[in-house]
Amino acid sequence: MRMRGRRLLPIILSLLLIVLLSLCYFSNHLRDSSQSRKNGFLLHLPLETKRNPSNPNTPLSNLLNLTDFHYLLASNVCRKAKRELLAVLIVTSYAGHDALRSAHRQAIPQSKLEEMGLRRVFLLAALPSREHFISQDQLASEQNRFGDLLQGNFIEDYRNLSYKHVMGLKYLETLEVREPGLATSSTLLSGYVLDAKPPIRLRANKWYVSKKEYPQALYPAYLSGWLYVTNVPTAERIVAEAERMSFFWIDDTWLTGVVRTRLGIPLERHNDWFSANAEFIDCCVRDLKKHNYECEYSVGPNGGDDRLLVEFLHNVEKCYFDECVKRPVGKSLKETCLAAAKSRPPKHGFPEIKALRLR
Ligand SMILES: *[C@@H]1O[C@H](CO)[C@@H](O)[C@H](O)[C@H]1NC(C)=O
Ligand SMILES: *[C@@H]1O[C@H](CO)[C@@H](O)[C@H](O)[C@H]1NC(C)=O
Repeated sequence: MRMRGRRLLPIILSLLLIVLLSLCYFSNHLRDSSQSRKNGFLLHLPLETKRNPSNPNTPLSNLLNLTDFHYLLASNVCRKAKRELLAVLIVTSYAGHDALRSAHRQAIPQSKLEEMGLRRVFLLAALPSREHFISQDQLASEQNRFGDLLQGNFIEDYRNLSYKHVMGLKYLETLEVREPGLATSSTLLSGYVLDAKPPIRLRANKWYVSKKEYPQALYPAYLSGWLYVTNVPTAERIVAEAERMSFFWIDDTWLTGVVRTRLGIPLERHNDWFSANAEFIDCCVRDLKKHNYECEYSVGPNGGDDRLLVEFLHNVEKCYFDECVKRPVGKSLKETCLAAAKSRPPKHGFPEIKALRLR
């Protein structure tokens, strides 16, 4: 289990190169966090076989304070599973990003995931009126073809991400999974821990948070929404507590930070899985192709390049079949990765006040 888990891990994790919130926001946070240097980890695969899964079409009727909640599209990929279900990959996806979903499917199709006991579901919300490139009809035909969309009836907006996140956790509850030995705990939350970050109080920033929305000076430690691992009992507790609390729109901060703290659930720190640089992932692909070097990271941004998701997964696959070698001393990415800068500048800036001579 442990060895298999180790090989499986990069594959599972790299599936979720893009999750949840703005990459820029998190990459800034990630960059200034020190990387933990912990060796060895135990992978907890959160879910096992399902029994009598309930129908995901059953209306939930409320989602936090949304009273007329229902699914516009409901996936049944988890119900159709022929093999035992070990884990579900829940990927938040903006409804209009069909090309990115197609990169995920190309990187690793559902059939291959199924062989590993995994399933993947994309979380979508309703198309906003400003979306002109894709229609609900197109989403319906995407669903007919792949059946992996779970779309809520609230409108796509980064300020609605907490609804989406809770929708994903609630979906897990409908699967009625049995816990394998490793994941019986009701306190499983592991991923990239961000410690005591202050809210952004700069009005011009997309992630501006008012004192009214969040009065305290610091957030509690929380997990980056890029990727984290949890299990059903933990998800159930978080959802139940979130329903009793006032809504906060930054979903990972809220659910894995504020809500989690109230429940006293500890965080498992796996910051060494993560890189904030798409360039490193690029170098990993190159080194996997050329030297079969294992990648030092399992999770990272793709720098806006959908192809990187496909390339990384296709190349990291050989590690699953034990065809990779450890990076030799002196060949770490930090010492050898030379890449063209890829990361886009953050969309939001910081003001700079300078005296200018008027002419
Ligand atoms: C839910 O609560 C949030 C925060 O209090 C508020 O902004 C939002 O309008 C509420 N939504 C509904 C549908 O009442
Ligand atoms: C979030 O979704 C609700 C419910 O559909 C909608 O009324 C609201 O306008 C959305 N929020 C934003 C900021 O778009």
